[in-house]
Amino acid sequence: MKTSTLMLGIAALVGATVGVGAWVANTRQESKAPQQAAESPPDYQRAVYSPLHFKPAIESARDEQCLACHKEVLDSRPRATSPAGVHSQDAKAWYQQTSTYTGEQDTFHRRHLSTPFAKQVMDLKCNFCHQGHDPRDEAPGSSATVAPQTDNGFTLRKQVNPETTCLKCHGQMPWQNMALPGPWSESKEAFQNNCLICHANIRTVRHQVNYLKPEAIEAAGKENGDACYGCHGGRPWYRISYPYPRHAWPDMPAETPDWAKGRPTASESRFAIPSATAKK
Ligand code: HEC
Ligand code: HEC
Ligand code: HEC
Ligand code: HEC
Ligand code: HEC
Repeated sequence: MKTSTLMLGIAALVGATVGVGAWVANTRQESKAPQQAAESPPDYQRAVYSPLHFKPAIESARDEQCLACHKEVLDSRPRATSPAGVHSQDAKAWYQQTSTYTGEQDTFHRRHLSTPFAKQVMDLKCNFCHQGHDPRDEAPGSSATVAPQTDNGFTLRKQVNPETTCLKCHGQMPWQNMALPGPWSESKEAFQNNCLICHANIRTVRHQVNYLKPEAIEAAGKENGDACYGCHGGRPWYRISYPYPRHAWPDMPAETPDWAKGRPTASESRFAIPSATAKK
């Protein structure tokens, strides 16, 4: 009560000072709706069916727009202690064993958007992973008005498409394609845990996409091979590896190895760096 009276007072004061009281009164009718949208969130149903959850609006959505309603995604933190008394700090999972892993236990979203390592090497946005979903059935093509089955922005019972997102950084290391003697865990000693022994000259045109920080990645990889391995087999949620595009690099052999036949030669266009395209 008190605050709203105060607000009215301030509004009146501002109106009077700039001498546009009448104008404000005139335009009130039109400006009411957008103002309400900005100040108080829409009702639940309207929010669920916010155009921002669907294509095409989600493609150009900015993180702030999503966070206006989903602040908790970056705010909430895991418990320090489980209900049974296990300290989360003492419970490190297999995917938290890479030497680049630092800090307290954190949530999935924060590990991709807010942790120091995430910010150092990546620049992920909400709509990198979230490309539209179906609030009713979580299934593409379940009715005439939802995303059709040809839409690969999300897959059945999921809100994202893991194959076009997670797999990029959580697949197996394709060591067979590198003619390594065995998996990295066995062969890394021989190469001093240093990918750049080979990759200073091989497949050097890499990471030219808007969700990675290519220079920072090279610097991190120079210091510690685990920085590279982390995204290329060190935290594998999959038994397969991502079919990386194979960008032509200087001194690339003319012969294409069998495994590489049919691979794209450029990154997915939706991640193209604007400046790289503009330069051409
Ligand atoms: C106007 C508020 C609002 C905005 C803006 C908004 N959301 Fe939501 N979102 C909601 C509400 C409400 C729900 C339903 C939550 C529930 O049922 O628990 C929801 C649900 C979701 C879900 C879960 C969907 C499901 O099937 O369960 C995801 C993922 C999501 N939003 C992502 C986003 C992203 C990404 C953006 C920005 C592109 C965004 N939202 C913008 C309000 C919003
Ligand atoms: C690295 C990929 C990725 C990024 C980046 C990402 N999300 Fe998510 N998000 C997911 C996945 C995966 C889920 C779980 C989906 C499911 O259950 O099917 C999820 C779930 C959600 C949900 C549902 C509630 C919950 O917490 O499980 C909301 C809301 C949401 N994300 C909002 C956002 C917003 C807002 C941003 C940007 C600030 C964002 N996400 C960035 C992958 C991502
Ligand atoms: C662009 C690369 C990239 C993509 C895409 C990506 N991740 Fe990650 N993921 C990382 C990195 C890097 C870390 C380690 C972050 C750290 O150590 O702070 C990580 C960590 C994780 C963790 C461990 C979190 C923890 O508590 O330690 C999980 C789980 C995970 N990712 C799941 C997923 C899923 C599921 C998706 C797809 C929706 C996904 N990631 C997409 C790079 C990626
Ligand atoms: C002994 C040399 C050598 C070492 C060490 C090495 N690689 Fe490779 N890597 C190669 C060769 C050779 C290729 C295939 C080049 C081509 O496309 O013809 C390759 C290809 C790749 C590819 C693309 C695979 C594909 O399927 O398109 C990735 C990703 C990669 N390496 C990452 C790494 C990472 C990360 C490390 C360190 C953890 C590493 N490599 C260590 C030689 C090496
Ligand atoms: C944050 C995750 C991340 C880190 C760290 C990372 N990579 Fe990658 N790497 C990727 C992703 C994602 C792609 C596929 C990008 C695309 O679609 O063009 C990729 C592609 C590649 C490729 C294929 C290049 C081509 O032809 O397009 C090579 C080789 C490679 N990485 C090597 C490395 C090496 C060496 C390091 C360490 C210096 C490293 N990566 C660190 C995520 C990562």
